[in-house]
Amino acid sequence: GRTAAVIPAAGRGVRLGPGAPKALRTLGGVPMLVHAVRAMARARAVSLVVVVAPPEEEAVAEVRALCAQALGGAGTAGGTAPGAELLVVPGGGTRQESVARGLAALPADVDVVLVHDAARPLVPVATVDAVAAAVRAGAPAVVPALPLADTVKQIAPRTGAQEDGAPEPVVATPERALLRAVQTPQGFDRAVLAAAHEKIALAGEGATDDAGMVERLGLPVVLVPGHEEAFKVTRPLDLVLAEAVLARREG
Ligand code: C5P
Repeated sequence: GRTAAVIPAAGRGVRLGPGAPKALRTLGGVPMLVHAVRAMARARAVSLVVVVAPPEEEAVAEVRALCAQALGGAGTAGGTAPGAELLVVPGGGTRQESVARGLAALPADVDVVLVHDAARPLVPVATVDAVAAAVRAGAPAVVPALPLADTVKQIAPRTGAQEDGAPEPVVATPERALLRAVQTPQGFDRAVLAAAHEKIALAGEGATDDAGMVERLGLPVVLVPGHEEAFKVTRPLDLVLAEAVLARREG
């Protein structure tokens, strides 16, 4: 079977500040989504990239044009033209729904799926390859992860009475050495990921991460080493860092 990468890119990215949808913000003059598509297509294992665009018809058309150009190798930054096939489909109201729509669009011969956030444009190809290889080696779900620099505090669920910015009581401090921050692409046996999405959708539950849904099915999820350049571009400072990483690479 083939390996496909699904890239949810339908988010508005409000935390980044006002402007275009996050996936279309540029790094080094190139939309983040295009960087992400190239990062997936460069991986030897990946032969199909499914991009999940904002649902509006014009957005789907715009994203299709941008990504087709990226895979056609129009000679822009990034070098070689990767030869993966491209599909663009409309997304949903949540990341989870957007991923589900990408999965629904996969051809029958795909048996391994990588799910990669458009918001992680600079993931190195070696990380993508390592995730795909671990799934091929038999793991149903594989996640790139890094140890944490910050200690993490758990807080109580917010009550309606709490004001924004009010001091938050701490309920626990998990042992930092036993925590990992997870990245994407997360890799899956296709049938496992499809079953996980169906079950969570039926239960009306939400999830911020695909592997979390597989855990709730009771199936094993394993971690492989992530990479600091696979960080998520979420806040304005992340854009500064991403530009610097890109400049260092291209320098
Ligand atoms: O908002 P967040 O940073 O968690 O988004 C992670 C990824 O999910 C982004 O690539 C974003 O475009 C995507 N997303 C989506 N559909 C949504 C919300 C987010 O495809 N409705």
